[in-house]
Amino acid sequence: MSLARTRLIAPSLLAADFADLRNEIFRVEKAGADWLHLDVMDGHFVPNLTFGPFIVSAIRSLTPLPLDTHLMITDPAFYAPRFAEAGSNLITFHVEAVQDVVRTIREIKGLGVKAGISIKPATPVDAVLPYLESLDLVLVMSVEPGFGGQKFMPEAVPKIRSLREAIDGRNLTTKIQVDGGINPETAKLVRDAGVDVIVAGTSVFRSKDPAAALSQLRA
Ligand code: DX5
Ligand code: ZN
Repeated sequence: MSLARTRLIAPSLLAADFADLRNEIFRVEKAGADWLHLDVMDGHFVPNLTFGPFIVSAIRSLTPLPLDTHLMITDPAFYAPRFAEAGSNLITFHVEAVQDVVRTIREIKGLGVKAGISIKPATPVDAVLPYLESLDLVLVMSVEPGFGGQKFMPEAVPKIRSLREAIDGRNLTTKIQVDGGINPETAKLVRDAGVDVIVAGTSVFRSKDPAAALSQLRA
């Protein structure tokens, strides 16, 4: 168990004021965000719609932060090239959305970006274990994907713990990410379970002092 593991914070833009994106991004950049988490929803895989590659490319022009793109869409392989072209650095798709997982990972990596898989609260960790070697990241959802501001589901904690064991047991560098309902209290639970990257929307963007919010999440 490495205690020196770097823990990263990826504020989720979903909770930002979209009428003032430039300043919102600047605010979290200045506060010390490590990545920027972008939630792409298609109204099919989840009952909500957000934005596509056009907006990602506008965001790309505003910040040097790594763009962590969480695709909650039914056809990630079809759209991945457009997100890579728009400037995404990491493309994460849902295992529940695709037929051929190996091929989807290969296609994303072929675009020259990092590849991640996400699992919904009801999907067991077993669904990703066969692919750990070829993945840069596994995203454990701690709310039902679709909306920000929901309550953390503690079922995510044992899932993170068993992924940690699998990844360390195989000596891999695959990162574990958690997304949904993260605040200073729930951050502690997922940290103790061995998470590497914390996504936080509401607790960062709705805070008057994002730098303080980030340091509370890291504490
Ligand atoms: C939900 C999204 C999350 C969401 C998290 O489908 O994947 O990234 O923005 O928001 P909070 O941190 O408010 O739960
Ligand atoms: Zn997300």
